[in-house]
Amino acid sequence: MLPNASLFTFCLPTAATPLEQQQGCSSIPLRKRASLTKPDGTLDIDQAIAQNVATINKHRQNLLNLQRNTGSLPQGWEIKPVAVLPSNVEARLNKRHIEPLTEESDGLLWADQSRLEYLIHGILSAGSSDLWVPLSSCTDPACDSRQKYNASQSSTSAKQYSTFSLQYADNSTVSGPIYKDTVTVAGVTAINQTFSAVTALPATLANSNRDGMFGLAFPAISNMSADPFFVTAASQGAFRTNEFGFYLAPSGSELDLGRVNSNRYSGSIEYQNADPSTGFWQITGGSISIGDTVVASGFGTIIDSGSTIIYGPQAAVEQLYSNIPGATYNSTMKLYLFPCSENVPQVSFSWGGSAFAMSAETFNLGTIDNGSTCAGTLVTKESAGLSLGGDVWLLGDSFMRNVYSVFSIEKNAVGFANLA
Ligand SMILES: *[C@@H]1O[C@H](CO)[C@@H](O)[C@H](O)[C@H]1NC(C)=O
Ligand SMILES: *[C@@H]1O[C@H](CO)[C@@H](O)[C@H](O)[C@H]1NC(C)=O
Ligand SMILES: *[C@@H]1O[C@H](CO)[C@@H](O)[C@H](O)[C@H]1NC(C)=O
Ligand SMILES: *[C@@H]1O[C@H](CO)[C@@H](O)[C@H](O)[C@H]1NC(C)=O
Ligand SMILES: *[C@@H]1O[C@H](CO)[C@@H](O)[C@H](O)[C@H]1NC(C)=O
Ligand SMILES: *[C@@H]1O[C@H](CO)[C@@H](O)[C@H](O)[C@H]1NC(C)=O
Repeated sequence: MLPNASLFTFCLPTAATPLEQQQGCSSIPLRKRASLTKPDGTLDIDQAIAQNVATINKHRQNLLNLQRNTGSLPQGWEIKPVAVLPSNVEARLNKRHIEPLTEESDGLLWADQSRLEYLIHGILSAGSSDLWVPLSSCTDPACDSRQKYNASQSSTSAKQYSTFSLQYADNSTVSGPIYKDTVTVAGVTAINQTFSAVTALPATLANSNRDGMFGLAFPAISNMSADPFFVTAASQGAFRTNEFGFYLAPSGSELDLGRVNSNRYSGSIEYQNADPSTGFWQITGGSISIGDTVVASGFGTIIDSGSTIIYGPQAAVEQLYSNIPGATYNSTMKLYLFPCSENVPQVSFSWGGSAFAMSAETFNLGTIDNGSTCAGTLVTKESAGLSLGGDVWLLGDSFMRNVYSVFSIEKNAVGFANLA
């Protein structure tokens, strides 16, 4: 059943009810993710190393899916080896029981016609396209404490004739049968949504209270070759407008589904045409500047809320750091370091219109050596081993925290606006 169009008029931005749910649109509060910067401002080196490994492996898997779904990869893209978390770093992180480094939501809900509902706590990712949750028969100890999907309790469940299997970011495998069922996310319903109910959870989720993964990118990188929730719901007319907005802040972060929240930005939203053929939210014509100096231009950008770090081609990244006296590259951390006594450079991105500047706080991942040395959030794809090749940059949340970001199927575009 599609939402009643007359209800859409109530779907206006309103001030802060914690979980606003209206027909066709809603705002989902996002929990602040574990940060690479500790509360005292120092860099969490182990977390930075782990996130780099996770990002490399996530996009490696995305490229495997893209190659299988489309038969080829864009020029210059190649599938690089799996990245491995050094065992000493892994051991330290396991001891700390840290949360995964991804945006998290509490608003994922599953329902069938009898209104039996499972509240699933999901991880949101604008850099993935699959939806998966644990299956009721999952015997993995990590499944014990979680909300699980029991197909036999849903009258609308339809098992599909294929299975889902992917290499998760930590190189453990997530796999399980594929189903279609009615999926409701924060009040927005998609009928016959394809997803997997998995029988093993990746180790990186074991320490988290999250149940599953909720991808927000395009079908081309789906391991199930299926339309992601957002695409299905949009095609069924379930949203007020076919777009979602990310507001990422130290507190009060939110995902706005089916609308933009005009309380969160000032001025107008500047849209750039997106090309969904690679499966990512990817736009062209980007340029990066330090101060007034343009360092590189005419490149593609992929927007990924699941990464903090920003990745660019080596030549441009090195040129950018050459503008900061004393900047050096540390191969253990795979990060660039610079003296904190230097002013943090004013780095900005533009796509032909406004320049969107990164604050010093978002450019600096944190300090080491008693505050004398700072780590930059910009690294090279080559030294990290990221499979996304060619003239493409990956913009993580270090950039997104400086803007309100809009992802629009309606306009086939990504938009940015200055924060309110
Ligand atoms: C799934 O639900 C059915 C029907 O309520 C129940 O008999 C079965 O035990 C459940 N399976 C699991 C693994 O919980
Ligand atoms: C990743 O996992 C696969 C499948 O379990 C295994 O064959 C491969 O050796 C692993 N790679 C690394 C680098 O650990
Ligand atoms: C969902 O799938 C069922 C069974 O294949 C089909 O009868 C129904 O028309 C589908 N509904 C939508 C909205 O796609
Ligand atoms: C999903 O990815 C895995 C690992 O790359 C692959 O073995 C599997 O065939 C993929 N599934 C589909 C349906 O493409
Ligand atoms: C890189 O950083 C690590 C961890 O802080 C440190 O042990 C190492 O000495 C650094 N290497 C260089 C070349 O600065
Ligand atoms: C940091 O400060 C402590 C205490 O003042 C000192 O012992 C240590 O050597 C300093 N470390 C560095 C890398 O400067």
